[in-house]
Amino acid sequence: MAERGGPLGGRHPRPDAMAKATGSTRYTGDITLPGMLHAAVTVSSEASARVAALDTAPARAVDGVEAVLTAADVPGENTIGVIFPDQPLLVTDRVRMVGDRLALVAARTPEAAWAAARAVRVELEPLPAVHDPVAALEPGAPPVHEGGNLVHTFRVARGEDPQDAPVVVEAEYRIGGQEHAYLEPQACLAVPEGRDRITVFASCQCPFYIQRAVARVLGLPLAAVRVEQAVTGGAFGGKEDYPSEPAACAALLAWHTGRPVRFLYPREHDLQVTTKRHAMVVRHRWGTDRRGRLRFAEVETFVDAGAYVGLSTVVAERANVSAIGPYHVPRVDVRTHVVSTNNLFGGAYRGFGAPQVTVAAEATMDRLAAAVGIAPEEIRRINALHDRRRRTCTGQSLRKPVLVRRCLDEALRLSDAWRPPAGDDGLLRGRGIGLVLYGVNLHHGGQALDRSSAVVILQGDGSVIVRVGLTEMGQGLLASAQTVTAQALGVAPERVQVWQPDTTTVGDSGPTVASRGSHASGLAILDAVRRLRRRLDPVAAALLGCEPSEVELADGNARVAGAPDRSVPMERVAAEMAARRIEAIATGWYRSRTRPFDHETGLGDPYESYAIACHVARVAVDPGLGIVRVEHVAAAHDVGRVIHRHGIEGQIQGGIVQAMGWVLTEALHLDRGRLLNPGFTDYLIPTSADAPEIDIALVEEGQGMGPFGAKGIGEPSFIPAGAAIRNAVCDALGRAIDTTPLLPHVIVDAIGGEHPFSFVLEELPG
Ligand code: MTE
Ligand code: MOS
Repeated sequence: MAERGGPLGGRHPRPDAMAKATGSTRYTGDITLPGMLHAAVTVSSEASARVAALDTAPARAVDGVEAVLTAADVPGENTIGVIFPDQPLLVTDRVRMVGDRLALVAARTPEAAWAAARAVRVELEPLPAVHDPVAALEPGAPPVHEGGNLVHTFRVARGEDPQDAPVVVEAEYRIGGQEHAYLEPQACLAVPEGRDRITVFASCQCPFYIQRAVARVLGLPLAAVRVEQAVTGGAFGGKEDYPSEPAACAALLAWHTGRPVRFLYPREHDLQVTTKRHAMVVRHRWGTDRRGRLRFAEVETFVDAGAYVGLSTVVAERANVSAIGPYHVPRVDVRTHVVSTNNLFGGAYRGFGAPQVTVAAEATMDRLAAAVGIAPEEIRRINALHDRRRRTCTGQSLRKPVLVRRCLDEALRLSDAWRPPAGDDGLLRGRGIGLVLYGVNLHHGGQALDRSSAVVILQGDGSVIVRVGLTEMGQGLLASAQTVTAQALGVAPERVQVWQPDTTTVGDSGPTVASRGSHASGLAILDAVRRLRRRLDPVAAALLGCEPSEVELADGNARVAGAPDRSVPMERVAAEMAARRIEAIATGWYRSRTRPFDHETGLGDPYESYAIACHVARVAVDPGLGIVRVEHVAAAHDVGRVIHRHGIEGQIQGGIVQAMGWVLTEALHLDRGRLLNPGFTDYLIPTSADAPEIDIALVEEGQGMGPFGAKGIGEPSFIPAGAAIRNAVCDALGRAIDTTPLLPHVIVDAIGGEHPFSFVLEELPG
């Protein structure tokens, strides 16, 4: 397959860039159909209560209302949980979190729909609730579900011998959650197709999840439910499992009214009820010898799952095997508890639990370095996995080369080359390191979903249609799929059109998560191109007067290998295939290798492919105000092979800024399970003005298993940054702070200063 030359690794424009930048892209909220109704939902205002009464009559009386539905109106199963059937679509007798759905409304305007939803008369009798994952495991804690609050404990237990460790540190980290803050809120549009089929357009990552949820709720066969991914304005994991809920609601309303129903979440509602990054409590006891070599690591993590399990077990199994970082440790004992509480339920969010445990691991590495009396970079270098010591904490042998030290050195080099502004500005400066080893595919637990489908159609004019079962959510999958196809067929990227996925045109490809998009879609595309060439090469060979095995595709031509002057344009080959009535469509398939893994001990090969990354952050802290400015981040990434350079750089820049918000300013102020700051005035995400200077090193020596040797970048771009920034702030202050986010008052408290804003802070909870 053509590898040299071609668009691979290039900077050609993303196919979706211009329309998005100029505002001509049509999102779900821009689509109106004749007779379309608008959905709204009545939700619980209590985190734990018995439903004493539910009266929809006042809602039906609101002008413009066409339907008000409750659990009794669900024709199929009234459950929505993606893995466990613990979550009802509409609750009947008991609410377990603020935001539980009680009734659905369809009306002629959104205003009427929400007014009616508010008019539903709900009587709730509060029940005891629990809001802390550690407290939830204590005897006598109110059970969120029958059977107690411990959903599951994951483990990694490796190396039984007690290790002699003269240096031991212990710490407890309380890591905060995070709102996804996608630009486009949750949005979908359900369109009934006669009485026995339905189409759903949804802003989402996982059309196949929605297909299953809608089929289950309506009691339809999967084949009767068509889900097309609408253009999706950001997701970050928040549109993995969650969109199945609004989609099932819209579908139910469409089913009952026989009319198209659009469901757009107002921002405040979106922040109040959707999934969040999990808050976690991480306890460490780690030990080294006198030179700083790790002897053992004990980790116990409490994952606040919230009221429903959702994807919490998936997040926890990844947090579990990621808890040690890219280090060699002879004895490892990790326990990760998934705990139910009456908080908003946790979901997928860029990194699936790895960012939280990475903040903890990298904080402990800094503590150990200080205790031993060596530099933070030194302790990491001493303990890093490398080619001759490449077993991870689960015992998986990494593919060579193992580039932990390489990424560390590259990031340090870029960071050292940067100079802070000259002059004494009274700010405290610090530097911090974050390292990660991340499985860029589904965990063993989700292996059954690790597959993907592609369809490639060569048109009569030589242009190419591609469909894959994975989705564009802003991360650049369209550009990646386009580039891989163009490279494989030897045509220019703009000759390739990648269309939105639709469950009726491609096979179930599992979710677009875990940074597997480019890997899984790319390998399926290469498989499709291989099959297409079985029919294309003989046609080209006939035109070229050579053997089919001699045909190579490059520069928009089919040509004779070794004799590039003997060539015909792809347009000619495509026209010839059409003229000879030869099938110019091919499907492709990818599935990951079946791997061994023992869920009891946590030993084995949880992931197919790993990426390594190191970020080094430099910060300036205002000791009076407690405000942090991230001045510079150096990012070194083991990417295997660059597919689309702009795409990778954009992911790294975006990941860093998003992680910066998570550890510095984005606080979810929960009061008895209710979010007190459901808007961007009080929930502070960074703006472009807050973005640090970023320098990037892309290391291409690693052996990726994706197309052309690529590895995922979507989440590795986020994970090390939070740890690096937290460590840099602590370095600047000269003391450890073990909670995130590092809000100004937390920093001022830590250094024993006076609160400049104490009159405001008194009103904040917690
Ligand atoms: N980048 C943008 N712009 N928007 C997103 O929603 N999602 C992230 C990451 N980068 C996201 C993003 C998450 S959570 C994942 S898993 C990956 O992209 C998914 O994309 P990939 O598998 O194609 O890398
Ligand atoms: Mo990303 S959290 O895997 O959708």
